[in-house]
Amino acid sequence: MELSIYFLLFGVLSCYVYGEQTSQNFTSIFSFGDSYTDTGNLPTLAVAAGWPINFTRIYPPYGETFFHQPAGRWSDGRLIIDFIAEEYGLPNLPPYKAYTGSFNQGANFAVGGATAINVEFFEKNGYVKFNMIRDSLDYQLEWFEELKCSLCTTTEECKEFFSTSLFTFGEFGANDYSTMLEAGVSVNEVRTYVPQVVQLISAAVEQVISAGAVTLAVAGQLPTGCIPIILTLFQSSNSDDYEANTGCLKAYNDLAMYHNLLLRQELMRLRSKYPHVKLSYTNYYDPIINIVKSPLAIVGFIDKPLQVCCGKDGPYNYNLTELCGMPGVDACQTPSTYLHWDGVHLTEAAYHYISDTWLHGPFADPPIKTPRN
Ligand SMILES: *[C@@H]1O[C@H](CO)[C@@H](O)[C@H](O)[C@H]1NC(C)=O
Ligand SMILES: *[C@@H]1O[C@H](CO)[C@@H](O)[C@H](O)[C@H]1NC(C)=O
Ligand SMILES: *[C@@H]1O[C@H](CO)[C@@H](O)[C@H](O)[C@H]1NC(C)=O
Repeated sequence: MELSIYFLLFGVLSCYVYGEQTSQNFTSIFSFGDSYTDTGNLPTLAVAAGWPINFTRIYPPYGETFFHQPAGRWSDGRLIIDFIAEEYGLPNLPPYKAYTGSFNQGANFAVGGATAINVEFFEKNGYVKFNMIRDSLDYQLEWFEELKCSLCTTTEECKEFFSTSLFTFGEFGANDYSTMLEAGVSVNEVRTYVPQVVQLISAAVEQVISAGAVTLAVAGQLPTGCIPIILTLFQSSNSDDYEANTGCLKAYNDLAMYHNLLLRQELMRLRSKYPHVKLSYTNYYDPIINIVKSPLAIVGFIDKPLQVCCGKDGPYNYNLTELCGMPGVDACQTPSTYLHWDGVHLTEAAYHYISDTWLHGPFADPPIKTPRN
C-alpha cells in the first residue's frame, strides 16, 4: 500500500517537475525540409548528380549579412534552424551530404527544392521540379536511418540518444504545390494533393518517434500568395483576386491555409496517439502575414513588405530571368529591413523574427522553448 502511494506520488512529482522545467537543453538537432532549412546540402548533391551547377543561388550576395560569403543557405544570412541551434548553444547544423565531421550534435537533411511527395511522382507526370535530385522526404528519412546506425546501435541506446534531441520538419509542401502550379495544374486540382502531403509529413513524424524522438516541431506553409515568385507568375488584373489588407493572392493563401488546417488536425491526432511526445506546430503563416499587414509595427522593417531585396524589375522587384546571384542583380542596401530576400526566400531579419516567435511564442503551439517571462 505504502509502496503504491510512493509510486503514485513519485509519478505525479516527476510529471510536475517535467511540466515546470523552464528550459530543456537539447544535445542535438535533426532537421528535414527544403530550401527554407537547407544549410548546404543542395550544391553537393547537385554536383554528385551531374547537374549544371554554376547555380545562381550559391553566388554572392547570398550569405552577405552574416557569413560574408555564400554559405549554402538561400538567404542573406542565417535561417530559422540556425537561430534555434544558437538558442541551445549548438553549432550551426551540419548539412548531412556536405560535411565530413561528426553528427553527434545533429544533422540537417533538408535540401533546397525537396518535396514531400517522392520525386519519381514528378518525373512520371512530367512536372519539372526545380531540381530532380533524389532528395524528397522519403530519401531524407533514408539518410536519417543510415546516420542512426552510426549514432547508436540498440533500440534502447537510440531511444536514449534521441530523447534529448530536437527534430524539426518543414516546411514541406511548398515545392510539391509550386511545381504543379508552375506546370499549369489548377490551384483547385493542387488542393487535392494536400491530404497526401500532410499524410507523408505525419508518417515521417511517426517514423522518427519510433526511433526515439520525443520533442518535435512541424512547420506549416508560408502564405504562398504573398511570395513574390507566386505574385509574379500568377499576377491578375482582377483586384478581387487579391486580399485587400495584404495585397497577396487569395487563392494561393487559401491553399496554404487548407494545408495548415489539415496539418494541425493531424498533429492533434498524433499528440493523443503519443502522449509522451512534445509536438509543436510551428507557424510560418501568421508571423509573415503580420509583417505584410503592418511591417512598421515590427521593429526594423520598412513599409514595403512585398518588395524583394535582391532582385530586379517588375512590381515586386522580382524578375524570373534576372535572379539574385546573377550578374547585374544587386541586393538592397539594408536587407535587415526587408521580409523577402530573393523572391522565394526570406531575409535573415525575417527568419530571426519568426524563430523568436517559435521558440517563445506566440507562433508555435506549444512554443519550442518557453514563453518569455
Ligand atoms: C541548460 O544549459 C545552460 C547553459 O549551458 C544552463 O545554464 C542551464 O542550467 C541548463 N538548463 C537545464 C534545464 O539543464
Ligand atoms: C553558367 O555557365 C553557363 C555556361 O558556361 C553560362 O552561360 C552562364 O552564364 C553561367 N551562369 C552563371 C549564373 O554564372
Ligand atoms: C525581365 O528581364 C528580362 C530579361 O532581362 C527583360 O526582357 C524583361 O523586360 C524583364 N521583365 C520586367 C517585368 O521588367
